[in-house]
Amino acid sequence: MHNISPDSANPFAELRKDYIRNELTEAGVADHPLSQFTLWINEALHAGLPEPNAMTLATVGLDLKPSSRVVLLKSFDQRGFVFYTNYHSRKGRQIEANPQVALSFFWAELERQVRIEGRVELTSADESDAYYLSRPEGARLGAHASPQSSPIPSRELLEARLRELELLYADQDIPRPDHWGGYRVVPERFEFWQGRASRLHDRIVYNRLDAEDVWSKQRLAP
Ligand SMILES: Cc1cc2nc3c(=O)[nH]c(=O)nc-3n(C[C@H](O)[C@H](O)[C@H](O)COP(=O)(O)O)c2cc1C
Repeated sequence: MHNISPDSANPFAELRKDYIRNELTEAGVADHPLSQFTLWINEALHAGLPEPNAMTLATVGLDLKPSSRVVLLKSFDQRGFVFYTNYHSRKGRQIEANPQVALSFFWAELERQVRIEGRVELTSADESDAYYLSRPEGARLGAHASPQSSPIPSRELLEARLRELELLYADQDIPRPDHWGGYRVVPERFEFWQGRASRLHDRIVYNRLDAEDVWSKQRLAP
């Protein structure tokens, strides 16, 4: 493998992988996308992948410019897909302006991608509290210390703030900051992608048909 540089003619020419591990058929996938997701996330867990619950979250704010970052899926059920963050962060402000978001998982070793699109709701205060309290102390204090996505003068300032908070909460419970909690993505569309040979991948899309939990299923061209 050679080193590449920005002006390499075809920097990734050697990285041409054929996908051969699995297939996805209309009859083989579950009728309900949540069942299919449950199957795949379990296979990702059991395959020992690093951070199988890491997902890319795409948001679009009032300026209509998309941005994306990785967050961790912390729970999911028929209501949706939950992650936790700072409500005042860049993503938090974008979600407040426009709750339509997209999630994607890439499980390279399984040659699979899952895409989920939907609308974000806040998790209840009780649900956010329960998760916050389950976090290690350092992470609980970090949620207080870090004004996520704001410019800060130095790392030292952040560490000094953490030490102050350690003293402040040495003998008392650390409360969940109001600006920190969960978001639940309520899905409207799922896509399951399975890599196949010769770039003829399998793609099965589910769309929610109405407010009820009824979903259509279609194959898309790769
Ligand atoms: C593997 C991984 C997991 C992450 N998990 C979270 C998370 O669950 N919540 C979070 O707020 N940021 C998480 N981050 C950091 C985000 O990617 C991002 O830097 C941060 O949320 C600020 O994004 P924003 O400025 O767009 O709001 C994670 C980053 C990585 C690489």
